[in-house]
Amino acid sequence: MKIRAVLFDAYGTLLDVSSIGETAERLFPGQGVTLVRLWRDKQLQYSWLRTLSRNYADFWQVTADALDYAAAALGLSPDPAEQGELMVAWERLAPFPDASPALATLVSRGMPLAVLSNGTPAMLAAAIGHAGLGDRFAALLSVDAVAQYKTAPAAYQLAVEHFGAAPGELLLVSSNGWDAAGATAFGLQTFWVNRSGAPVERVGVTPTASGTSLLDLPVWLEARNGAAGG
Ligand code: LAC
Repeated sequence: MKIRAVLFDAYGTLLDVSSIGETAERLFPGQGVTLVRLWRDKQLQYSWLRTLSRNYADFWQVTADALDYAAAALGLSPDPAEQGELMVAWERLAPFPDASPALATLVSRGMPLAVLSNGTPAMLAAAIGHAGLGDRFAALLSVDAVAQYKTAPAAYQLAVEHFGAAPGELLLVSSNGWDAAGATAFGLQTFWVNRSGAPVERVGVTPTASGTSLLDLPVWLEARNGAAGG
């Protein structure tokens, strides 16, 4: 099936979460990078935990809770001003350098693009805008609308409804292997941007395609849609 629209995961795919490390290292020298790694891990765990237990809180709250846990686990005690500075960093993430050129190529071909993310609408508008990518997207779709995080089917269904397309006509692009796996299981086509050379997730599905950079995407997509015809 020909791909009619492309969805992008935000954090880790377009936006570099590790760019928070700079702020964190300034506040907690020698522990900032570890803090951010644990913070991100906990943020994702809480997203899955809250979805499975039907105990939704939005991604800003989940992110604040995960920071609280990660700091406590490392014996750090950020004061309210430091917590605020770390939280605001989520709205000022550096874009990966391949994001802007890859998106520009797809836009120039007339391909509709959207973000599909766990982030709240406010977090996404701020971060995508700050990264200078706002004008590339037809929509910023937030799972907040269904109060369930990826990889719940309802999260991916949002894109199906937004574009009025069959799941197989939509491509989800993510650097998060678990997100690519969840979207594949749902029935979307998927392109895994495996930035870190990670092994594929062992959950019984394989992404439709993969690359090492977002720049691999336009090349693959052109070949894919050419082969699919009309
Ligand atoms: C997102 C997280 C999962 O943007 O990276 O949805």
